[in-house]
Order: sequence, then C-alpha cells, then structure tokens
Amino acid sequence: MSAVTPGRCVKVRVPATSANLGPGFDTLGLALAEYDELTVEALAPGELDIEVEGVGADEVPTDESHLVISTIFYALQQLGFDKPGLRLRANNTIPHGRGLGSSGAAIVAGIVAAAGLVEDQQQVSDDTLLKLATTLEGHPDNVAPCLFGGLTIAWVTASGEPRSKKLMVDRGVSIVVLVPEETMSTSVARSLQPSQVPHADAIFNLSRAALLVAALSQSPELLFESTEDRLHQSYRAAAMPKTKELIDDLRAEGLAAVVSGAGPSVLVLCDDPADRLRAAEIAKSRTDTTWTAYLTAVDIQGATVEEVSKQTVSPSA
Ligand code: HSE
Repeated sequence: MSAVTPGRCVKVRVPATSANLGPGFDTLGLALAEYDELTVEALAPGELDIEVEGVGADEVPTDESHLVISTIFYALQQLGFDKPGLRLRANNTIPHGRGLGSSGAAIVAGIVAAAGLVEDQQQVSDDTLLKLATTLEGHPDNVAPCLFGGLTIAWVTASGEPRSKKLMVDRGVSIVVLVPEETMSTSVARSLQPSQVPHADAIFNLSRAALLVAALSQSPELLFESTEDRLHQSYRAAAMPKTKELIDDLRAEGLAAVVSGAGPSVLVLCDDPADRLRAAEIAKSRTDTTWTAYLTAVDIQGATVEEVSKQTVSPSA
C-alpha cells in the first residue's frame, strides 16, 4: 500500500444532476449548474476534522460515516493507498432527498477528491472513476453526468462494467427544476418498481428515450413527445402525489415535465426560455406545497478537482 502525502490538499466542485429525464430510467442523466464545493486535506493517520456549511449542515454526520469521507476511504483503499487522516470543509447547495443527485454528488466528490489526493503518484482513468462511483451509488445515471457534465447515456457492459457517453445539449434547451418542501427516499421509490414490464411499454420507452437524445442534442421541438414514460413514473406516483399533479398540470400546458431522478422534484425541459417562467408560475399557483423554482442551466464541465497547496491549510480556511 502507498501513502497519501500529508498536507496535500484539493478543492473539488461537483454539480447537481437530474436522472431518468422521463423515458431514460437508470440510463440518461443531465448535469445541472448547481454545485457542492469541498476542500479536502490529507492529515496524519487517525485525524479527522469535518465542517459542513449550507444544505444539510445540521443533519449530516461529522464522523467517518460522512458520505464524502467514507467514499474517500473506499476509493483510496481500492487504489492501493493507506487510510490517511482528513480535513473536510464542505459548502453544499444541492438539495437533499429531492431527486437532484445529492448522494451521487457526495460520492463523486469523494472519488475525485481521492483521485486528486494521489494524483502526484497515480493517474486515475475516467472508467475507474465511473466504476468506483457506480459501485457505491448502485446505478450510473447520476454519477456519470456528475463526473463528466452535459447529457450522459450510461450503460453497464455484459461483464458488469459501467460506461457512459457524454453529449452536448443543444443551446435551444432551457431548464427549470421545481423543488418541493417534501423529500423522497430513492430506495423507497425503487421498491415501487415492478420486476417485469409489458413488452409494449418497453418498446414505448425505447422509442421515447432514443428520440429524447435527438431532442436534447439537436431538436428541442421534440422534447414534449420524447419525455413520455411508462417504466417508472406511474408506479411511483402514489408515493409523491403532489409531484404527479404538478407534472399533469405542466404537461396539460404543453410543457415537457418529468420527475427528476427518483423525485419528488420536477424537471421541465423547455424549447423556449420563456416557458421556464410559465412553469414556475404554474408551480407557484399550487397550494398543496411550496415549490422553489431553480432557473438553472446545463453544466458542461462535470466534477472538477484542483490541488490547492501542498502546505497544511488553516483549520478555519
Ligand atoms: N434512476 C434512479 C431512479 C435515479 O430513478 O431510481 C435516482 O437515483
């Protein structure tokens, strides 16, 4: 086993993501320009110092079970490095439990931080980053866009290796995400999925998912038709009725609204930027919960990591 150099310090930025995008269950994902930012410094083994600001600051653990920390330890072990001490400073803006990839972002942050901490000794390939992140997340559709940015198509090879292809999104696509007060557990949402679906529904989703790639990359006028889905949203609707009702309202107005990831947020893909405000107004008019509108954009960079300094930084930095 090798050792991370004490004092090595990296700064990491990871985007929010929206997975599924309607028909692309566990396959399609989009990186969004909302970010968690972290600084991670290697300390002497045994030391641990965690401070979190922003979203979840009062809820996330500040011990080894913190998702970024446990991920760094896992990734370093997989890369053949001993467990170092760590100082973590996190500033979170990605909402938790809302279907915007916060856990995938924490996992990706830990993976790229680990890669950055060992970069002077070992280069880590994109395939390895994706594999480590997918192993922890369970499915690749959030971690792929979080790592690489843009629109990603993710798949798992016959031998179990996750892979992804990144595409750029057409400039004519604009985005609003509507985030409710309520949360939704991904594992609960996944438990509502049937193990088998009718063949006709599989064909329905295949056609829409293929069309959606074309709509997002070159033909935004096809967004509405291409965001139809029969594989997951209807099965989960009873667990998030307010989300279903808002999506029904938005789609009745011709807006391409879908559940973001496992919900309960709503992603609206627009081919006219003015439609974002229209969607936000429709959400505002609902009285069953408060929907916060994020008029956001596609992130094209994905996760970034840079070395800050090889000197020990101040604990208050
Ligand atoms: N594809 C995943 C799901 C995304 O819908 O369960 C949420 O992690």
